[in-house]
Amino acid sequence: SFYISRLSLKNCIGQTFAMNEMKVVTALTLKRYQLMEDPEIKPKMVPRLVLRSLNGIHVKIKPVEPDL
Ligand code: HEM
Repeated sequence: SFYISRLSLKNCIGQTFAMNEMKVVTALTLKRYQLMEDPEIKPKMVPRLVLRSLNGIHVKIKPVEPDL
């Protein structure tokens, strides 16, 4: 898909903005919540170009202790 998208002459002007927005959302989420592996649904790892999970990555979340 990398080569296919490189053949396109069009591009997305919001690409960098969208990527930055995702990083901010991830950072704000991790500031408030702790993510833990769901022991009942373990990921089925498959080696592709990078390591992937066949069944998604199930997590449990809990609020972190507020800073005093
Ligand atoms: C996760 C967010 C976004 C995704 C997944 C996305 C995806 C895409 C895709 C697939 C294209 C077509 C590219 C092509 O045909 O080669 C596109 C084009 C475009 N995007 Fe986005 N986009 C996102 C966010 C944004 C934002 C935030 C803006 C504006 C602030 C934006 C503005 C545009 C414009 C103006 C084009 C047309 C570019 C052209 O015709 O040359 N996009 N986007």
